[in-house]
Amino acid sequence: MTTLLIIGASSGIGLATTKLALQRDHSVIAFSRSADSIPLQHDKLRKVVGDARKSDDVRRAISGADVVVQALGVPANARMLTGPIDLFSSATATLLPLMKEAGIRRLISVTGFGAGESRSAITPLQRLGFDLVFGRAYADKDIQEKSIVQSGLDWTIVRPGVLTKGRRTGRYQILTRPQDWRNGLISRSNVADFIVRQLTEDTYLRQAPVLVN
Ligand SMILES: NC(=O)c1ccc[n+]([C@@H]2O[C@H](COP(=O)([O-])OP(=O)(O)OC[C@H]3O[C@@H](n4cnc5c(N)ncnc54)[C@H](OP(=O)(O)O)[C@@H]3O)[C@@H](O)[C@H]2O)c1
Repeated sequence: MTTLLIIGASSGIGLATTKLALQRDHSVIAFSRSADSIPLQHDKLRKVVGDARKSDDVRRAISGADVVVQALGVPANARMLTGPIDLFSSATATLLPLMKEAGIRRLISVTGFGAGESRSAITPLQRLGFDLVFGRAYADKDIQEKSIVQSGLDWTIVRPGVLTKGRRTGRYQILTRPQDWRNGLISRSNVADFIVRQLTEDTYLRQAPVLVN
């Protein structure tokens, strides 16, 4: 069984991944600024409060992990439209040397449909709205993706479409070929399903699939 460090474990995909990994008998180190308020108790769960941009905080959490999952998010508010966003790139710049220092090779990182080369699959009309609302976050996710790809680690980048609160069905599309990339809905629970599957498979090693229903 695997010990996962989940960075961004207190809500959304990170929390869904924490729950599913524990159900599957893995051990979880759940890391976020509010990790102490995660409403779960489990013998195989360790909660670590910290900021993903701070080396000392991540170093406290990473010890004992075999795999790292990055499921960071920024709140959807006015800052997303106007403020500088560097969470994804700076947390990744913090994480990569610490993974190397700790000898951890496997990284599964959630970005989103529209990050990196998947932006080319957004139609020009949709891109206007996308850039307006998500442009700053996704410019930073582009930097994040590039540094992961160049890291030399055993990475998988996960690019979900529009996230929903639906239940886990295990039925969703894993689109690896650029010509198949499209936007669509997918539940956070199904993204968690994909992430937990990667703990026992290496089918998507060094790939960046888009996930949609
Ligand atoms: N919404 C969509 O339709 C959509 C579509 C595609 C992709 N995505 C992407 O999918 C990802 C996950 O989204 P989600 O809605 O599941 O997540 P979320 O609910 O926004 O959760 C974000 C997590 O990141 C943690 N976090 C934020 N800043 C942190 C910091 N400085 N240090 C440590 N932890 C930090 C938060 O915990 P604390 O606040 O406790 O630190 C929380 O656990 C995001 O990157 C999002 O952009 C979203």
